[in-house]
Amino acid sequence: MPIDHVLKLYSESIRSPYLHYGFWDNPEAVNTDEITLDEMVAAQERYIEHLASFIPEDVKTILDVGAGIGGNSSYLLSRGYQVEALSPDEYQEKVFAEKYNGEVKFHRTKFESFEPEKQYDLVLESESVCYIQIELGWITARKTIRDGGYLLASDYFLHHNDGSGDWHIKAAHDENNYMKIAEKYGFKLIREYDQTDNTMPTLDGTKAFLERFIYPTVEFSSNYMDKSHPFILKILKKAFGKKVGAKMKQLSLVDSDEFRKYKRYMIYLFQKVN
Ligand SMILES: C[S@@+](CC[C@H](N)C(=O)[O-])C[C@H]1O[C@@H](n2cnc3c(N)ncnc32)[C@H](O)[C@@H]1O
Repeated sequence: MPIDHVLKLYSESIRSPYLHYGFWDNPEAVNTDEITLDEMVAAQERYIEHLASFIPEDVKTILDVGAGIGGNSSYLLSRGYQVEALSPDEYQEKVFAEKYNGEVKFHRTKFESFEPEKQYDLVLESESVCYIQIELGWITARKTIRDGGYLLASDYFLHHNDGSGDWHIKAAHDENNYMKIAEKYGFKLIREYDQTDNTMPTLDGTKAFLERFIYPTVEFSSNYMDKSHPFILKILKKAFGKKVGAKMKQLSLVDSDEFRKYKRYMIYLFQKVN
């Protein structure tokens, strides 16, 4: 995979070193109509702090799989861990090279194709589980993690599939299937935490932002084009109409009620036991 432009756009616009949902300690107290970018980034910092509290005491070496643009790796380094990073993305490799000047070894590959030269105490998959094919991911985890070592997964998983083909269903792994295959490759679930409530203010805040700024801007531009350049608008609709329609359907991904209907945002700590 050369560059994931959606993740690149996100990192350049939010200007955060993280590409995950963040963690809100008191989700019921958050006014999602008024979330600021600073609060969003603070929630992202809290996410890795909370996630790192699941790392067992005998861990020294960590492979940060699907490392994004390095926020989690930096936090782990600051906590004294030896960290290496992995991602198939060229842009992220460049960001790591500039940020760490070789201090953090970067493996540019999909995890499924990774050929480890050594074994690590822990593999971290922070919001990267859903990108990695389940079976191949566990096969690689088995080679990559030492006996008794750990895989710490933090991501959303499907708990309900009504066969509707909803975007939420397409974009997540089925949690029962994930567990079954983990067991098949010798990984035992030793801790879990449901952080759905703690992550949903990010979706609600994003939805509020879209409704307040983006949709009215799109509507204004469309009305303006209709009045001033109707012919150009007609051509644009013909060229991009279907694609725009599909993208609008994808926006259900920022609806937290829809999210909860299909998914849970989980932390799972597995140990390689046999
Ligand atoms: C949503 S981002 C999460 C980034 C980071 N872990 C974080 O928490 O901020 C998903 C990451 O997984 C990476 N990724 C996508 N496909 C992958 C694969 N097959 N193997 C490993 N990483 C992958 C993406 O390039 C990106 O770095």
